Amino acid sequence: MTSNLRQAPRRYSRLRLCVFWLAERLARASGGRWFYARLFLSPPLLRHEVIRREGLPASLDGLRIAHLSDLHAGVLLGATSMAGVIEATLAENPDLVVFTGDFIAGEVGPGVDLAGVMAPLAQVPLGAFAVFGNHDYRGRQEGKIERAFTQKGWGFLRNRGQRLGDLPLVLTGVEDPEEGREVDIQAARAGMGPGDLELCLCHNPSSGSYLARQECLAILSGHTHGRQIDLPFLRTLGPAHPGLRVELGPTALVISRGLGVAGVPLRVGAPAEIVLLELRKG
Ligand SMILES: [Fe+2]
Ligand SMILES: [Fe+2]
Repeated sequence: MTSNLRQAPRRYSRLRLCVFWLAERLARASGGRWFYARLFLSPPLLRHEVIRREGLPASLDGLRIAHLSDLHAGVLLGATSMAGVIEATLAENPDLVVFTGDFIAGEVGPGVDLAGVMAPLAQVPLGAFAVFGNHDYRGRQEGKIERAFTQKGWGFLRNRGQRLGDLPLVLTGVEDPEEGREVDIQAARAGMGPGDLELCLCHNPSSGSYLARQECLAILSGHTHGRQIDLPFLRTLGPAHPGLRVELGPTALVISRGLGVAGVPLRVGAPAEIVLLELRKG
């Protein structure tokens, strides 16, 4: 794992992009969107992760965070695909909801359309917050997604931090390390004081070792889709997947396999998931 916050952007060949474009539209025409929502999102897998820390303040002991990621709204997933995701998330009564990027596959419209269906997630006690992923900057129209979700109560952590209520816990977030114009964790941490602990949102887990530090309980990432189709050869088509959880000294790097897909409406050995994290003392 690299120790740089910035990552080199990946660029695919025109041939590969054409194959994906065609595969997605063929899948959609043969009912692939319905099939995917029915098979993988009704409901998605619920994965539990416990984040333990000696001396955790009593006010943070038992805090629960629902972590969603990588919807890739577009040809294969839309607002009508989301009922099982929203219901399963709210059924867990999380204190906080976070989303770690890739709202869209390419076009910005389907991402804007998600804001209405995802509005109830912002009603949890500590609110809902998001960072962008590499796909979200396509055409530099990510501000449209931000505006639509902000109107529904969501917050965006674009190189900034957000104190959670009056708790000694700051949620920090950075722009995507591949495609963000500026990626500035120092700015995100500027409002932290002595004794504050941190949860950090960063779409790309390859930047995790740069973000880990004593005050940071966990870094929440997505991007890899857990390899989506975890079979020989096919698993190498996507970004490097370091695992579901990597301990980086005092900080846990938690990687969501996400909820959406790229290319084909199929996952093998990498279920769509909501990660439910719980902070615990000890
Ligand atoms: Fe993604
Ligand atoms: Fe991504």
